[in-house]
Amino acid sequence: DADLTPFNTLRLPARAAALARPHTMDQLATLLTGRDPRLPLQILGEGSNLVLRGDLPGLTLIPALDGMTCVREDGRHVWVAAGAGVRWDDLVAWTVARGWQGLENLSLIPGNAGAAPFQNIGAYGVELSQVLEQVTAMAVDTGVVHHFSASECDFAYRDSRFKSADRGRYVITGIELRLNRQAACNVEYGPLKAVFANQPPEAITPAAVRERVIAVRQSKLPDPSVLPNAGSFFKNPVVSDAQHTALSTRFPDLVAFPQPAGAKLAAGWLIEQAGWKGRRLGPVGMHSEQALVLVNHGGATSADVLALAAAVRDSVRTMFGVELEQEPILLP
Ligand code: EPU
Repeated sequence: DADLTPFNTLRLPARAAALARPHTMDQLATLLTGRDPRLPLQILGEGSNLVLRGDLPGLTLIPALDGMTCVREDGRHVWVAAGAGVRWDDLVAWTVARGWQGLENLSLIPGNAGAAPFQNIGAYGVELSQVLEQVTAMAVDTGVVHHFSASECDFAYRDSRFKSADRGRYVITGIELRLNRQAACNVEYGPLKAVFANQPPEAITPAAVRERVIAVRQSKLPDPSVLPNAGSFFKNPVVSDAQHTALSTRFPDLVAFPQPAGAKLAAGWLIEQAGWKGRRLGPVGMHSEQALVLVNHGGATSADVLALAAAVRDSVRTMFGVELEQEPILLP
């Protein structure tokens, strides 16, 4: 068996009965078709969006397929393919270094390329779904390789078919992205707008935006290698127009973003108002610079994490009548 503590960024102690890191499609197919189908199978990435509740029985796979290549190009676009095991930010850096536009807002997100479509990673006004061309995935039961176009992935806010309807049925082995050779960057998100508003368009390059995004993230989000965490611990909840109106009457400072239906509330704001910003419960706490991030101050177990999550959810429900939904997945 294998220790999974280094393979989850909350650094929760757990073991895998069997752990394999396939580097090729053949190795992966052999592992999938040769396993005992009665035993559970878990697929991990870098473990940066994961709460390990205990030991993992059966087989645990960490796809380690690598490679970043430009597979196609035309006058306007380049199509880039990456193996599931490529570190996401290495892929962003590689494309930005070539001047290609599309991934700069997604700089410094922890995790690997294969996990990116699983939860449709997003930050600073951009979601993976906007640049994704296709996902390559292997069916767990048969080892057969499938390709899913962006629309076939059923992307939604922090969600995809791989995370919901088809959970556990495919191993994502690679992604292909469509980037722009030359296009205006998206700097509409508050902290980016503030910096770039007065700059000439030619100064707003992917490299400049990447640099800024990295600076913003480093100022708010704890580095998991220094202070273990799994990023945002809850989704930003979407409430109805009626509830939004009622809440903003009671709380004039409410931070909300209009949606096609209703409004998305800043969960970090709700948690801060409920008194949890920088507050600890046992060895865990909500981060002092970003209340939406649950951090492990050292020696935490999953019970500590889930107790704090429940306490925060209760406080927010009592104060605002809003239900928070956990963002990282729970295993087993
Ligand atoms: N806020 C507070 N107090 C806090 C935190 C936030 O009042 O402690 C308020 C502020 O008004 C702030 C607003 O909430 O302006 C939004 O905060 P922020 O820009 O930090 O973004 P977020 O909504 O908390 C989301 C994503 C992040 C992503 C950022 C930037 C989710 C669940 N989280 O956080 O993604 O980096 O936007 O785009 O959607 C992740 O998924 O793990 C993640 C870090």
